[in-house]
Amino acid sequence: MVLGGSGLVGSRVVDLWTDDAELIAPTHAELDILDDEALTAFLAQSKAPVVVNLAAWADVDGAEPERANRNGRVYALNARYPARLATLCGELGKYLVHVSTDYVFDGVNVDRAYRETDPTGPLCWYAETKLEGEQGVLATGAQACVARIEMPFSAQPHPKQDLARLCLARLRRSEPMVGVIDQRITPVFLDDAVRALGRISEARFTGTMHVAAAGWTTPYLFIRAIAARMGLSTDLVAAETFADFAPKRAARRPQHSWLDVSCFAQHFGPDVLRAPEAELDAWAQQVRAT
Ligand SMILES: NC(=O)c1ccc[n+]([C@@H]2O[C@H](COP(=O)([O-])OP(=O)(O)OC[C@H]3O[C@@H](n4cnc5c(N)ncnc54)[C@H](OP(=O)(O)O)[C@@H]3O)[C@@H](O)[C@H]2O)c1
Repeated sequence: MVLGGSGLVGSRVVDLWTDDAELIAPTHAELDILDDEALTAFLAQSKAPVVVNLAAWADVDGAEPERANRNGRVYALNARYPARLATLCGELGKYLVHVSTDYVFDGVNVDRAYRETDPTGPLCWYAETKLEGEQGVLATGAQACVARIEMPFSAQPHPKQDLARLCLARLRRSEPMVGVIDQRITPVFLDDAVRALGRISEARFTGTMHVAAAGWTTPYLFIRAIAARMGLSTDLVAAETFADFAPKRAARRPQHSWLDVSCFAQHFGPDVLRAPEAELDAWAQQVRAT
């Protein structure tokens, strides 16, 4: 069962898994996950042994107006609902993969990427609520994995634009782009992330797992790499510092929100999550083919 199957991440999960598994992916209109009675009934009548949760409030800046509001929609979706979902999955003997984010970290680590066991330190309301959601899921004791993904980018069209497709669209129109130079990030090609979620689900891995690129880049290098691969001018890409970028956003963001994926590699091998260069090669090949 895929919840949030119309979203940026969920829609690719549905695309890539449809041929291999019997999928149930109710739309928001079919199931409002905040309607507890409906959620309980939907899960109870389904035989799906695995639930993958992509339903969330994922607008980082748009969450700020609800800061500290535990009666708000952001809190309900990101903090309260995941724990309820995990409780139901536990009661019904279903395995849950709950997707979370690198933003649970404070981003001060410049020497090494964040490991699953590192202390968290959310900087904005979105991140605080996502962290509470993670903790709520794990506290239920259900058979569940919290999979933290970072900056998924896709070659497929979707109403919500990720950084790669936003860059591509702008650079194709010869519009300038600005990329941060002093920020370590591990953006994951969405297809790789979906494969990783598949491996986690098959293995019924429990606990927290990072799902990101196997190596870091910066937004500036990432955008230039896109331009270069697509035969567009890298001169359109200007550099800016994190100190200049950060105040322009409503939500405070972690500077170095890079994730260490060695735990994933230990469990599932080194071939699923790739280095940024290899991911971008695969992404560019798919963009050219679509
Ligand atoms: N995108 C990123 O850059 C990023 C980075 C790190 C982590 N993540 C995490 O990845 C997960 C998926 O993110 P995303 O970018 O795919 O989000 P998204 O595109 O905003 O999708 C959210 C999904 O949740 C559904 N939803 C929201 N409220 C609902 C409700 N009350 N009942 C039923 N469905 C509801 C939406 O359906 P409708 O649209 O029909 O309402 C949509 O399918 C989230 O947990 C997010 O925190 C995302």
